[in-house]
Amino acid sequence: MKKIIKNGTIVTAADTYQAELLIEDGKITQIGSNLSAAGAEIVDAKGCLVFPGGIDPHTHLDMPFGGTVTKDDFETGTIAAAFGGTTTVIDFCLTNKGEPLKNAIQTWHEKANRKAAIDYSFHLMISEINDDVLNELPQVINEEGITSFKVFMAYKNVFQADDETLFRTFVTAKELGALVMVHAENGDVIDYLTKKALEEGNTDPIYHALTRPPELEGEATGRAARFAGLAGSQLYVVHVSCADAANRIAEARSKGYEVWGETCPQYLVLDQSYLEKPNFEGAKYVWSPPLREKWNQEALWHALRSGTLQTFGSDQCSFDFKGQKELGFGDFTKIPNGGPMIEDRLTILFSEGVKKGRISLNQFVDLTSTRAAKLFGLFPKKGTVAIGADADLVIFDPNAERVISAETHHMAVDYNAFEGMKVTGEPISVMVRGEFVVRDKQFVGKPGSGQYLKRAKYNTPITENETMSI
Ligand code: URP
Ligand code: ZN
Ligand code: ZN
Repeated sequence: MKKIIKNGTIVTAADTYQAELLIEDGKITQIGSNLSAAGAEIVDAKGCLVFPGGIDPHTHLDMPFGGTVTKDDFETGTIAAAFGGTTTVIDFCLTNKGEPLKNAIQTWHEKANRKAAIDYSFHLMISEINDDVLNELPQVINEEGITSFKVFMAYKNVFQADDETLFRTFVTAKELGALVMVHAENGDVIDYLTKKALEEGNTDPIYHALTRPPELEGEATGRAARFAGLAGSQLYVVHVSCADAANRIAEARSKGYEVWGETCPQYLVLDQSYLEKPNFEGAKYVWSPPLREKWNQEALWHALRSGTLQTFGSDQCSFDFKGQKELGFGDFTKIPNGGPMIEDRLTILFSEGVKKGRISLNQFVDLTSTRAAKLFGLFPKKGTVAIGADADLVIFDPNAERVISAETHHMAVDYNAFEGMKVTGEPISVMVRGEFVVRDKQFVGKPGSGQYLKRAKYNTPITENETMSI
């Protein structure tokens, strides 16, 4: 089915302009004015922005964690993502030591393939480096198109890898053409501080934050960056929460190290005081790294604006308050870590960033879509509005006002971390490969219609001036 989108303002990471788009066979085939095509449906985007569908490079859907499983799976999670203007998610495939990587990847395909309503891909967790893993990784890259690895420097005795594993992952990724993603917190020191807090009878949610201070995120970020630099490899630091970590990234980049950073909506608008909410409600805000003292928010905005941080992920990892977060009543270490962020990612960055003059509209598109497409091997099929690109598009009303609430969100989880927040800007319609998934704020897509995306190897990202080959 052909479509022509008329009357909208096209926004990319580089430009903002008035134009019409012709969509055929799921791709953008013409950009111009007075476009026509026999049988084409006309879509009126009057008063709206039209920009590339969001790419969320950081989700945990249907993920076992802390003795339970995230509430949102690939169906509810990707539907909620679509309502929020996201058309591709890259989810973290967990692995277990001793288990063939292909089994873990198969498990993740089974979680996603009949459920995802938008396109999706996987990053692969590296929990150990040995001959079996080294033998399998070329296949992971060449056959599965998984070109990014994730190493946890925290969650001792659960996910945490040691420094040798981290360093060898950098060396291997350099050889194979993959990007190493790191959860940067010092898990050993956190483990000590956590045990000490419990021994002293400090069991409330706020101790989750107090036992994971920003110094330990800054230290781990700096350590990972130095390892990457020493190995001549490439690092992407996920969920940067504080000034200390952002400063370590800036420092590494100033030395010429290939280090990228991501932050998330929660760190820009919520702060550590949320963990002190009464009646155990602080547990709703327990995730890692934790929320920080409010002054860090300005440092993160500065890092986004100045290019020290280049992407904006959700770290979607949702657990109900009732029955899941409550597992940690009387012991904060048993609160499953994570929050529901997938749906409000774009709106929060638009409302707090673009509308308040902290970032430009083009930076917004770069942060929410284009840069992730480039870093994770999806550009220019995804992440831009260009002839030949997939017609993954958001028709976005920049003036719509609403209040975020669990009453109206589409995630399966029983609370919204941004409850009551007034925001400006709302996705009205969202399409994936030329088909509406959300139309006039109604879900019209189909679980299972999302396609698995094999990604290109990591390379020095394409600059704005380079020619695109599709
Ligand atoms: O608390 C969080 N962020 N949960 C998800 C796992 C991770 O560390 O990203
Ligand atoms: Zn993490
Ligand atoms: Zn995460």
